[in-house]
Formats: sequence, C-alpha cells, structure tokens
Amino acid sequence: MSTSQSRPVVLITGATGFIASHTIIQLLEEGYDVVGIDNLANSKKAVINRITALSDRSIIFRPVDIRDEKALDELFTVYPINSVIHFAGYKAVGESVEDPMLYYSNNMKGTTILLEVMAKHGVKNLVFSSSCTVYGNAEQCPITEESPLQPGNPYGRTKWMIEHMLSDLAASDPEWHITSLRYFNPIGAHPSGEMGEDPSGIPNNLIPYITQVAIGKREKLYVFGGDYPTEDGTCIRDYIHVCDLAAGHIAALESLHGNGYEVINLGTGKGYSVLEVIRTFEKVSGVTIPYEIVDRREGDAVEVWADPTKAYKKLYWRALFDLERMCNDAWLWQLRNPEGYRSNELPFASSEDQFSLSTIIDHSTKITLRDTKTA
Ligand code: WQD
Repeated sequence: MSTSQSRPVVLITGATGFIASHTIIQLLEEGYDVVGIDNLANSKKAVINRITALSDRSIIFRPVDIRDEKALDELFTVYPINSVIHFAGYKAVGESVEDPMLYYSNNMKGTTILLEVMAKHGVKNLVFSSSCTVYGNAEQCPITEESPLQPGNPYGRTKWMIEHMLSDLAASDPEWHITSLRYFNPIGAHPSGEMGEDPSGIPNNLIPYITQVAIGKREKLYVFGGDYPTEDGTCIRDYIHVCDLAAGHIAALESLHGNGYEVINLGTGKGYSVLEVIRTFEKVSGVTIPYEIVDRREGDAVEVWADPTKAYKKLYWRALFDLERMCNDAWLWQLRNPEGYRSNELPFASSEDQFSLSTIIDHSTKITLRDTKTA
C-alpha cells in the first residue's frame, strides 16, 4: 500500500487483537493509513484478511514483537508514522498471577522500548490502552478517573505502572501528547458478523463463554458466585460495545493536541449483573443458556461501572450501543464463526461461500437476530 503523504499514518500495536482490529476498521474509514504490528501470540493473522475485506482498503502488517527494537526502528524509518495507538499487551488476570515476569517483560519492557524508538524518531503522539482493572475492587461506583487506583493483580499493576511512566514522560517533555484510556468490559463484535472476540481455549470472559454455550460448544455456563451484595447476588459490570471503544480511541487520537497527559474512562455508565446479561442474551438470540451458580472466582470485584462524564467533556464521545445490541452482535459473530478466525483461512470468502445460518445450528432454535443491515 503506498501511503499518501496527505493521510496521517498511525502505528497500531497489537493490531490483530479484538479492540485494535475494530479500531483499525474505523481508522481506515476515517481516511487514516495504518501500519499494524502484532507478535501473534494471542491472535491470528487471518484478522488482517477480514479488515481488508470489510474496509476495502489494505494496511501494512508486520509480525513484530514490541520488544524487538531493531524491527520497530526500521518501521519508523520506512513509514512516515506520526502517531501510535498502543494496544499490545497480555491481559489475562489469572495468567499474570501465575507468570508475572511474562507480564512485566511483555507489557512493561515492551512499552519502554516502544517509547524509546518513538522518541528517537520524534513521534510523540500516543494513545495507550489502559484498563478499569487499575481500579481493582472499587469501594464505590460510578468510578471516576479520580477514584483510588488499587490494581489487585500483576496484569493490572503493569497498566498502572505504564500510566505512571507515561505521565512522567509527558511532564518531562511538553512535546509529548499522551492519553491513557481505561476501558471497562469490552464485548460485542463488528455488526457484519465477520470480526469479533476470538479467545483461544476455554474463554475466561463471560460473553464468549455464553456464545459458546449457545452454539452447543460448551454444556452450560458456570456463574461465579450468587451471594454477592447485589440485587440478584451476581457481580455487576459496565459492558461496552467494541465498536464504541474503537470510536473512543479515534476521538482520543484526534484530541491529543489539546493536552499533555490525560486519563479517560471509556464506559457506558451503566452496570449489569451476570444474570441480567444472561437474560438479555436469551431474549436477543432466542436461545436458552443453561447455567449453574458455583463458588465465587478469586479476585472478582463486586461492582465495577464507570462515570463517563470526562470522556464526553474532553472527547465529545459517549457509548451508543446498548446491551441488547452488544449481545446481538456477539451472537452473530459466533454463529458465523463457530471456530473463530481460522489460521489457514484464505482471503475473505464472498458472501455466498459463507455458512448459511442453518448449517450451524439445528432448525429447532429460533434465531431472532436484528437485520445487521440496520447497523
Ligand atoms: C465478568 C463477570 C465474572 C465468566 C475482564 C478482565 C479485565 C478487563 C475487563 C482488560 C464477572 C462473571 C465470567 C464465566 C462468570 N479486561 N463470569 N462466568 O473479570 O470483569 O474483567 O475484562 O483489561 O482485566 O479481567 O470480565 O467477563 O471475566 O467477568 O460468572 O464463565 O462475569 O465473575 O462477574 P472481568 P469477565
């Protein structure tokens, strides 16, 4: 792809990941040129085919690890990159407890190397993918950017330490324009059903587990705890559509020059319990989700939901999609991609090659999906 000088060039780290891939689609639609890198440890290159097919534009993709200083240096030398959205990072809470050095090396050291290469090339515009996990078990909701930071696991501590590194960097050099986005629970999928969340192995997170139960890949959902001090005894979270999150990253990118360093929550401002999510999914999909309430999961917070006021004031951004739409889009993605992205898949098959819905599920299950054309 030749990068026309008129179009700004953005480097996306973690490019084949869930949120990054949806952000790239919107960047291309907004006229940006994109250079994407990913070490493919937790995602598949097939995502790039889908991005190209959906946006009808190509991106430059390189299988590069952010700790590979030489490869990063070459990219900044070859391409006129003028800003970076930094998604790359491991994000499994449980894994970070078992193997903290994997997280401190990849997330912390990788970010340090990226910042040093950016500085060397005079690229000082950065949006960083942080997380609500820095708030830990918040004492009260809604959570604002001034709420206490008390990450309860190595993964959350890497996000918290990187935020401090970025804040110190911006304070030391006014040429740096940096925003850290603390997002809440990303769910949903691209409305086309061609891109979505693709966990490897047994899903850690609620929605991909539910959709795998719905297509019959898992027998039932295990609800971690039914005795929390909430209305129905299950934990409450602020679920946000991945496309809303993507739009938030672009709004942050385009607001960088207004400030040195900013921290902004990206959430809907609404909390839903696990049982409410199950009921909403069943309503949207027409599929009953069998579940069993079991013991609490270690480290789960009771209630986590955002005050999104600052995002609106600073970025003129707010979440548009509701929980029904999030469930609808997650379900369409799962139906059309029962095995997620296939490593060996050819460049995007045309629509007639796609599975028809009936080949995936038995006809007894009523599908009441909204027409995605209204998306
Ligand atoms: C949501 C609720 C579970 C699975 C995660 C990451 C966090 C951040 C946001 C990146 C909880 C319950 C889940 C299941 C269940 N991501 N649950 N059965 O833990 O709130 O946050 O995403 O920054 O780092 O940890 O999301 O989807 O795992 O859980 O009952 O099989 O669903 O107990 O109450 P979580 P989750």
